[in-house]
Amino acid sequence: MTFLYQKGHTASLSAVAALLLFLAGCEPKEGAPPAVAVAPPPPTAAKSHPPAQQSAFYADSFSKRPTVPEMTRLGRSLFFDPLLSASGQLACATCHDPKFAYGPPPKGVTIHADRKSVPLVIARAIPSLKYLQTVPPFGEHHYDEAVDESVDQGPTGGHMWDGRADTLHDQARLPLFSASEMANTSAEQIVAVVRRGAHAQCVKSTFGDDVFDDNEKAFKAVLMALEVFQQSPREFYPYDSKYDSWLRGKAQLSEAETRGLKWFNDPHGGNCANCHPSQIRNGSFPQFTDFGLIALGVPRNPALAANKDSSYFDLGLCGPQRTELKSKGEYCGLFKAPSLRNVTLRHTFFHNGVYRDLREVVDFYVERDSHPEKFYPKSKDGQVNKFDDLPAQYHNNVNTESPFGEESAGRGPLPKKQLDDVMAFLATLTDGYQDPKNPQPPASDPTCSGGEAGAD
Ligand code: HEC
Ligand code: HEC
Repeated sequence: MTFLYQKGHTASLSAVAALLLFLAGCEPKEGAPPAVAVAPPPPTAAKSHPPAQQSAFYADSFSKRPTVPEMTRLGRSLFFDPLLSASGQLACATCHDPKFAYGPPPKGVTIHADRKSVPLVIARAIPSLKYLQTVPPFGEHHYDEAVDESVDQGPTGGHMWDGRADTLHDQARLPLFSASEMANTSAEQIVAVVRRGAHAQCVKSTFGDDVFDDNEKAFKAVLMALEVFQQSPREFYPYDSKYDSWLRGKAQLSEAETRGLKWFNDPHGGNCANCHPSQIRNGSFPQFTDFGLIALGVPRNPALAANKDSSYFDLGLCGPQRTELKSKGEYCGLFKAPSLRNVTLRHTFFHNGVYRDLREVVDFYVERDSHPEKFYPKSKDGQVNKFDDLPAQYHNNVNTESPFGEESAGRGPLPKKQLDDVMAFLATLTDGYQDPKNPQPPASDPTCSGGEAGAD
């Protein structure tokens, strides 16, 4: 098995490194090459847990050493199994649909809200689960040697829109227990279902026959299998978009795509690459995010149930979902910049899913400061209620660098042809571009025994 761990320059990854060490130990002995090549974490990387605590999760506690292909197969089966939810109706894949880069199906943020049996209020847009393998653990300070080592880039990293989960197994607990997602109340409940369910044998054959003797151990097996599945390169980070082929010198970008890329990178144009880097750095293919948490002041989404309460604000990094930084006013309104890979497969944009059309997102960047009336509602006195999803005392947190701010004064909409170019470029970031040698694995594989392992 050859899977090369492609890292972004900012990746620090003590947690991921712990997983990888664990995985490396799971390799079959017979002369196989090492599972993964991991560069040591950069020294400046902020860590929010001591490494010992993180690797404790991966300590070898099972009577059988699980292999990567076995865990991947089990993890995939669990990912598609609605029995993991309290209602028995929601699988991870219901929200993270492989057809849409493990992001939401077109019904978007309100999926299933209409089903009485699943009283579901999703307060945030469902992110894609692709290209998360280099997300560094959350840190309040970040120094990036590829940009300027002496400058603190501020809060960076972590999973979820507010960076509150450090690892994918940390993360998997959250939807499993969240009342608005899978709504389980205890690990025992999940273990009980798995023990009775179709995957029980598979869990045993992967982790040892005694795995169900101990609820904690069995739950850990479930989390670990889900995490390992989400690290399978072919499904989650294939780097097989047209843009990747172009970076490898194996494809040509069209004239329109090239013009779009130029605007995307231009500090006086879109300046998008400032936060969504597009270049190979230190030999790593670009993730199209620098993992930074930034306030863009995106408009309030009236469609979200939580927003019916006019005093409710989702302030991201400072709460209310995250609690430990709630006293830091300068963090209110900050959300993590997502990767733009596969962005044309999305139907909801920004943390609150306020936009349904990628063109609107680009318009927002171009004209937020020159024509705010296009994006924000008017109050009774006719004033534009700019940054209406953020209480006034936090408006200063909103980013005003290019393409926003002074630079955009007097700017009109991007001419249609130029907008088309940008769309053409963004479409080159979609995976699955002509690579017959790298066929996609089956989208769903409900049984443990069926399908290929996917991690070879
Ligand atoms: C009801 C829809 C729903 C279900 C079911 C669901 N998720 Fe999510 N998932 C979300 C939403 C919404 C977020 C973003 C939440 C936030 O940022 O606060 C999210 C975030 C994530 C993230 C973080 C991505 C990142 O790095 O920012 C991961 C990983 C993830 N989910 C995996 C899973 C797994 C594994 C399961 C099954 C155990 C699952 N999800 C089930 C809706 C769902
Ligand atoms: C100052 C940093 C910054 C710059 C510059 C920037 N972005 Fe972003 N981008 C972000 C952040 C942060 C978010 C998430 C904001 C939120 O949801 O509140 C985001 C979100 C997005 C999204 C939504 C993706 C999703 O999955 O919901 C798109 C699309 C996007 N940016 C495209 C662009 C384009 C195109 C440009 C250039 C015109 C650009 N960005 C410039 C930081 C930036």
